[in-house]
Amino acid sequence: MKALITGITGFVGSHLAEYLLAKGQIEVHGSYRLRSRMNHIQHLQSSIHLTECELKDPHSVSQMIQSVQPDLIFHLAAQSFVPTSWNSPTETLVNNIAGQVNLFEAVRKQGLSSKILIACSSEEYGLVHPEETPIKETNPLRPLSPYAVSKVAQDYLGYQYHESYGLHVIRTRTFNHTGPRRGENFVTSNFAKQIAEIELGLRPPVIHVGNLEAKRDFTDVRDVVRAYWLALEKGEPGETYNIASGTAYKISDMLQLLLSLSGHSIKIETDPARLRPSDVEILLGDAGKFSTQTGWRPEIPFETTMKDLLNYWRAE
Ligand code: GDD
Repeated sequence: MKALITGITGFVGSHLAEYLLAKGQIEVHGSYRLRSRMNHIQHLQSSIHLTECELKDPHSVSQMIQSVQPDLIFHLAAQSFVPTSWNSPTETLVNNIAGQVNLFEAVRKQGLSSKILIACSSEEYGLVHPEETPIKETNPLRPLSPYAVSKVAQDYLGYQYHESYGLHVIRTRTFNHTGPRRGENFVTSNFAKQIAEIELGLRPPVIHVGNLEAKRDFTDVRDVVRAYWLALEKGEPGETYNIASGTAYKISDMLQLLLSLSGHSIKIETDPARLRPSDVEILLGDAGKFSTQTGWRPEIPFETTMKDLLNYWRAE
């Protein structure tokens, strides 16, 4: 069986590649761009097949699909950092939406029956009223950033290509996820990296933060990639599934957890540049539909994830 991971060089892509290789019997392919950094997949390079592909270019995508002929496609490549989407809304929309359309069109035109997972996001729910939590898939989508809008578009394109052409698309709305290799812009990694640098004496004992009042539902990336596998194995084509832990942490509580793992005395300072034009206040997911369909449950406790993340930055 052949699996293609778009964005294999990224945080989730590298964990998914490890997971698929450990399963055995799966030929793992991945796409990367010329400017992609290879450090997360260096240790896998001899076991995987890499194709340079610009997803925004229909020709490039068509060539890759033609040569790989994947049975499974995990479409992870995206501009995934919310603040960047305010600085570069057009780039975010074009990258995330056109990239996926090119992938769908290549599969459709070549008459392949690939099963395709598209990585949608809990950010699509956006403005959520307190009485709407835990959030179910039926909740209205009220996106609050260009990134969220790009994910709504990806999500509905998945629905539309399934309805119009019968493409085997599974849409996962994944809530926040973290763990070793998480990009340093994202909150868990950013705080963990700052703490590791303070421990090493590389910066003064002051941690810079943004909005600590938001609440997020975190799942370990290693549980998420197992969910992605199960989604293609057991998910219903055309359907959308929440992937979530069912517990939300205030960002301030997540910070306190990290600080308690360090033991250093660290001052907290708000950096206004880290505040957003609009921030999603609470994301707390109900993954009941996915659990019933696939038997998936998150297994790694949040404290373990955060310890592993801090140790990752201590070793970097
Ligand atoms: N990045 C960052 N840096 N966020 C901070 C900081 C900081 O210094 N301080 C507080 N925050 C708050 C943000 O305002 C937000 O409320 C929360 O921490 C999480 O921020 P991020 O880690 O940047 O993630 P996100 O929730 O905006 O988006 C992530 O989750 C989505 C799923 O819900 C990303 O991984 C998306 O790609 C993903 O789709």
